[in-house]
Amino acid sequence: MIPSALDLHALDTDDARAIQDELFALYARIYADQLSDPFYSVDRFADRFAGHSGRPGFELVTGRIGGELIGYAYGGPLPPRTQWWNGLREPAPAGATDEDGTRTFALNEIMVTQDWRRRGIARTLHDALLAERPEQRATLLVDPGNTPARTAYLSWGWQLFGHLQPFPDAPVYDALIVDLPLSHVAAG
Ligand SMILES: CC(C)(COP(=O)(O)OP(=O)(O)OC[C@H]1O[C@@H](n2cnc3c(N)ncnc32)[C@H](O)[C@@H]1OP(=O)(O)O)[C@@H](O)C(=O)NCCC(=O)NCCS
Repeated sequence: MIPSALDLHALDTDDARAIQDELFALYARIYADQLSDPFYSVDRFADRFAGHSGRPGFELVTGRIGGELIGYAYGGPLPPRTQWWNGLREPAPAGATDEDGTRTFALNEIMVTQDWRRRGIARTLHDALLAERPEQRATLLVDPGNTPARTAYLSWGWQLFGHLQPFPDAPVYDALIVDLPLSHVAAG
């Protein structure tokens, strides 16, 4: 059951960057087992955050309980000349990867601290981030071995688009997509 004390806040670029040390600290706790892999290091995460948070339309939703940050999700629209789809392993149908800056919202990160999992918090963050987006669809990348996340996304309506490796030292991810608005969330 979602804790009634969960406070959600939507933040833009400036507000998100103002709490970035807190965001990085939570990332480091959640990914503690993988930080020795350069791709998952806090420095690389910080680099990716700097890039993602600098894009027009960026939005971050935090979840706090008693003031403590326990999870967050963020993303932004893919720009017209995005490299997002460049690492696709299979040819996509004609037009399927065309972007004009308004078509697709990329969900870059979502995480919830271990102590608060399986209570619907990630889904609440996900729905809050996506509920009122103006884009037609959303996309994300998930490691196919990440059973909790992959199972969650598929149960929330996401579907496999293809297999994608964003950087040479990154894993080959499953690229998922979902139509917006989300069918299970009424826009407010
Ligand atoms: C993925 C993650 C965000 C889910 O957070 P959460 O708050 O536990 O998620 P929710 O409670 O909203 O949803 C839970 C759903 O996830 C799936 N799930 C979670 N853990 C699971 C597991 N061990 N095995 C299978 N499915 C699992 C189920 O569909 C579950 O629904 P249920 O509890 O009704 O069965 C969290 O596990 C996490 O932070 N993981 C580390 C960071 C990460 O991998 N982020 C995603 C990167 S793509």
